[in-house]
Amino acid sequence: MGEIKVMREDLRPPAPPPKRHFISIKDVTRDDLERLLATARTFARSMEREVKKLPTLKGRLVINVFYESSTRTSSSFELAAKRLSADTMSIKSTGSSVDKGESLKDTAITLGAYDPDVIVIRHPQIGAPNLVARVTDAHIVNAGDGKHQHPTQALLDLYTIKEEFGRVDGLHVAIVGDVLHSRVARSLVQALALMGAHVTLVGPPALLPRGIEAMGCETTTAIAALGAADVVYLLRMQRERMEEGANFVPSLREYAARWGVTAERLRPGQKVMHPGPMNRGVEIDPRVADHADALIETQVRAGLVTRMAVLYDLLVGAPAPVPVGDPVEVA
Ligand code: NCD
Repeated sequence: MGEIKVMREDLRPPAPPPKRHFISIKDVTRDDLERLLATARTFARSMEREVKKLPTLKGRLVINVFYESSTRTSSSFELAAKRLSADTMSIKSTGSSVDKGESLKDTAITLGAYDPDVIVIRHPQIGAPNLVARVTDAHIVNAGDGKHQHPTQALLDLYTIKEEFGRVDGLHVAIVGDVLHSRVARSLVQALALMGAHVTLVGPPALLPRGIEAMGCETTTAIAALGAADVVYLLRMQRERMEEGANFVPSLREYAARWGVTAERLRPGQKVMHPGPMNRGVEIDPRVADHADALIETQVRAGLVTRMAVLYDLLVGAPAPVPVGDPVEVA
């Protein structure tokens, strides 16, 4: 025992490197995004085979914790983990101890006791993934925290655009709708700016957050601005994030009339994207949603391979640690 006491500081085994996470696009570089896109591409090729399961993450545990509704994000993370042979568990707030008033911190500590390799979390509060990162030893993936960030959505959107156009650099993307309450918009603007695309945000004045241009985009209330874009990206009206009684638009009817994307407002060949779920007849005309130029189903497919890439990258793949920064609310 005495020997251990006198052991010099520099003879102790080095501390393990900090855990890497995927919480915000702000924490990553263009090289990180390029590497993830390339990894996703190789997974897309293996998904063309008849037997799609890969042994890569055998014996690893991925826990999905969803405190907000989800169809695409939760199903794709679960399938991504399964396709890589990881064990998976899915916790939803309804039906769990969250119903009994358990705090996020206590839930995270409880789940941390199973030694998960990755916790994927969606939560209405900004910064929830950072809290889970502080109280568990798992790699954390942010599947959406309030209106702050949704980095894997941005990654799957970049992937979809890159597969369609062969590049992202130099493209013009118009993002239309409820930017104010959208984590998708915040992550995507940052990701597109990192990749060298030109971004214009279009929407009613009350839904364009002041100062968002600092993220690397321009803003306009003129729907005619869509004409200049290679990609028109639609956002859902986030009614669940609007304060009771606040009037951001006069009515959904008026919103649809002034900013809804119809075939008449598009040029032939412009590509249309939407993260889902769509409100047909509000932000998107059903004819636009069902047209061959809509990449909405392609985005869902991209969601699987890009989330496989994120899990792989965190657990097997990659180099430098990504620190857990404090979330900064932009607007
Ligand atoms: C988005 C989300 O949850 O932020 N959806 C998704 O992840 N596919 C967008 C939305 O809910 O409108």
